[in-house]
Amino acid sequence: MANVISNEYLGQDMHLLKIEGSFKGEMGQFYMVRAWENYPVLSRPISIHNIEEESITFLYRVVGEGTEILSNLKTSDDVKLEGPYGNGFPKVTGKVALVGGGMGVAPLYLAAKKLKQMESVEKLDVYMGFRDEAILTEEYEEYADELFININGKVTDDLDVDKYDYIFTCGPEVMMESVVNMAKGSNTKVYVSIEKRMACGVGACLVCTCKTQSGNKKTCKDGPVFLGEDVYYA
Ligand SMILES: Cc1cc2nc3c(=O)[nH]c(=O)nc-3n(C[C@H](O)[C@H](O)[C@H](O)COP(=O)(O)OP(=O)(O)OC[C@H]3O[C@@H](n4cnc5c(N)ncnc54)[C@H](O)[C@@H]3O)c2cc1C
Ligand code: FES
Repeated sequence: MANVISNEYLGQDMHLLKIEGSFKGEMGQFYMVRAWENYPVLSRPISIHNIEEESITFLYRVVGEGTEILSNLKTSDDVKLEGPYGNGFPKVTGKVALVGGGMGVAPLYLAAKKLKQMESVEKLDVYMGFRDEAILTEEYEEYADELFININGKVTDDLDVDKYDYIFTCGPEVMMESVVNMAKGSNTKVYVSIEKRMACGVGACLVCTCKTQSGNKKTCKDGPVFLGEDVYYA
């Protein structure tokens, strides 16, 4: 069990949950989170938004029972975290863009922070799309060479894929598929972070199976990050 430091409401049902402790995790990995005893039965997968020496942070949107319980957590309340799980984004070189839509921006903060620390990364641009209002722009701006914000439109409208060696994207399927299609035939490699309903989080139950060019994969263990063309041209 770990203790809640803060659970800040950011607007539009989004919250930033900061938990005390020394946790491990790489960009694109997730934890199975629960703050209840028996019901709901399953813990909920939430991406790592940030890790500091003495804390881990999750950015989440309230969509159902589990996230509703999380939204009511107060300072010092107990949370159970299992992880880090999943493969995470690869370490890359050259020019990199991060493209997030809605809650898909959540894992891209740690990605921006980690990539910025890598000498092999020459340029790091961040694209974020929101339906109503942008959140945490100052925080992402700290690590981005350029930050592009799109409200109520298509975040991909601002994106020239040829400017980048690698693109990491997370968010609505239609947005990720569009990024993969834009890069088709170019030298740009696109990595997508897939969301599937999960039960165990560790590859045991097959609830999260996803089809790829090399057969069915477990999103929780083989992913959630996949090469875009493997998933969308499967
Ligand atoms: C690897 C991974 C990382 C994730 N990271 C984040 C994150 O950083 N922030 C965040 O807000 N959410 C994240 N999610 C989604 C989050 O797990 C779900 O929103 C959460 O489990 C919903 O739980 P609930 O009890 O509130 O809703 P439920 O009552 O279980 O469901 C409510 C609604 O949400 C939909 N839903 C439930 N689970 C998922 C899911 N896994 N993917 C898509 N839709 C779902 C259901 O279809 C239903 O419409 C992630 C999911 C995965 C698989
Ligand atoms: S959630 Fe059980 S195998 Fe992925």
